[in-house]
Amino acid sequence: MEKEKALRKVINLPSRNKKDKSVENKYSGSYTRVISITSGKGGVGKTNIVANLGYALGQLGKKVLILDADLGLANLDVILGITPKYNFAHVIEGEKSIREITVKGPGNIEILPASSGIQELTNLSIEQGIRFLSELDSLLNSFDIFLIDTAAGISSNVMYFNATAQEIIVVVSPEPTSITDAYALMKVLSLKYSIRDFKLVVNMVGNDDEAYEVFRQLSLVADRFLDISIEYLGFVLHDKNISKSVRYQKLVSELFPDCYASKCFNSLAKKILSLKANNIPRGHTNFNWRHLLIKNSDW
Ligand SMILES: Nc1ncnc2c1ncn2[C@@H]1O[C@H](COP(=O)(O)OP(=O)(O)OP(=O)(O)O)[C@@H](O)[C@H]1O
Ligand SMILES: [Mg+2]
Repeated sequence: MEKEKALRKVINLPSRNKKDKSVENKYSGSYTRVISITSGKGGVGKTNIVANLGYALGQLGKKVLILDADLGLANLDVILGITPKYNFAHVIEGEKSIREITVKGPGNIEILPASSGIQELTNLSIEQGIRFLSELDSLLNSFDIFLIDTAAGISSNVMYFNATAQEIIVVVSPEPTSITDAYALMKVLSLKYSIRDFKLVVNMVGNDDEAYEVFRQLSLVADRFLDISIEYLGFVLHDKNISKSVRYQKLVSELFPDCYASKCFNSLAKKILSLKANNIPRGHTNFNWRHLLIKNSDW
């Protein structure tokens, strides 16, 4: 409790019983949904899903902010064809505020760029992490949805972003290694951070049956060995137009709005909006600080 009080002071978080209207989402009058998109295995399509899903949500009238949280190998800017002048590194170094590094993307999305190849950034100190989230929290007030594109794996930074998000979308492909790595990721998040609810998107599938089978297999083992629940959000078909668009540094949803993949992204966006936001943090903040307050020595 003492530790929690001290940390609340550092990060300037209002105490739980204090009503602070200024932290509420001014755009929609409610909290901003904070959703991390993550995976055990790399290369399963997280970055493409985040960018296209963000675009699709924007088309549905939502204001979307995307964080490129792959701090070591950032490439969201590459697939969007933007060249940000400043990035996350400038915020961590204290040279720029988060608001100053935000750049406009296609449609209704804005991006918080990371920086590629700066190894030190992959290990935020506790204080840097807390200050970063604290600054981010106030920026979120003018957005409906905040999507976090994490790195692959179970590094401390991946855990940090997943643990503080309200919702976690795990991306898998039908490859067995992708499925086992997704299981390992959910296992760590549940055992170490007591996270029980996950959503699943199956990417690069040939049809909906194949996607559902991947969900079924994962749920089966998770039900048996872990105390978690996995909600099936849907799938994205394997579509050559995605890699074609990446080569043009444009979003497939923009370039080929009627292709199979774009239709899948639209369905995913609608599905997400149809679900009630869950796991809303207490204490007038958009993030689940609780996990950091309890487990702060682990990340
Ligand atoms: N549905 C799809 N159909 C065809 N190709 C796809 C699909 N989704 C992603 N890809 C391709 O897979 C590759 C990896 O995609 P992406 O970079 O989005 O994965 P990632 O999970 O973000 O990778 P990393 O773990 O390295 O961050 C890219 O070349 C992309 O074009
Ligand atoms: Mg990526």
